[in-house]
Amino acid sequence: MKRQGGAIPIALIPNELITNAIKYAHPDGMKGRITISLVLSGSEGILRVSDDGVGLPEGFSAGASQSLGLQLIQTLAGQIDGRFSLLSDLGTKAALHFPV
Ligand SMILES: Nc1ncnc2c1ncn2[C@@H]1O[C@H](COP(=O)(O)OP(=O)(O)OP(=O)(O)O)[C@@H](O)[C@H]1O
Ligand SMILES: [Mg+2]
Repeated sequence: MKRQGGAIPIALIPNELITNAIKYAHPDGMKGRITISLVLSGSEGILRVSDDGVGLPEGFSAGASQSLGLQLIQTLAGQIDGRFSLLSDLGTKAALHFPV
């Protein structure tokens, strides 16, 4: 697909990450926080969606995940020449670095 300014990926990626955090981070009525930030650092945009929940399932690998949401994020990140990372660290931390 041709680049189209990146507006569609930049809209869809946080949507999926926030939905995941709401669905999975704090099960069984657990209280917690979801933090979203978008910062400009030089010529790079950095989108972060972090939570302080239960973290990713044991042995989980974003790259190997066959589930649709993360596959879509990887594809969309590629369309804007972005780098996506997802890891467990006192919850789950997702980051997208992309050129602006
Ligand atoms: N913030 C999070 N905290 C804990 N687990 C998470 C979080 N985000 C994702 N996961 C885990 O990663 C898995 C894969 O996420 P992904 O978005 O690819 O699939 P899904 O949300 O289950 O399905 P879909 O997005 O296709 O509706 C989830 O099923 C869940 O187990
Ligand atoms: Mg999902």
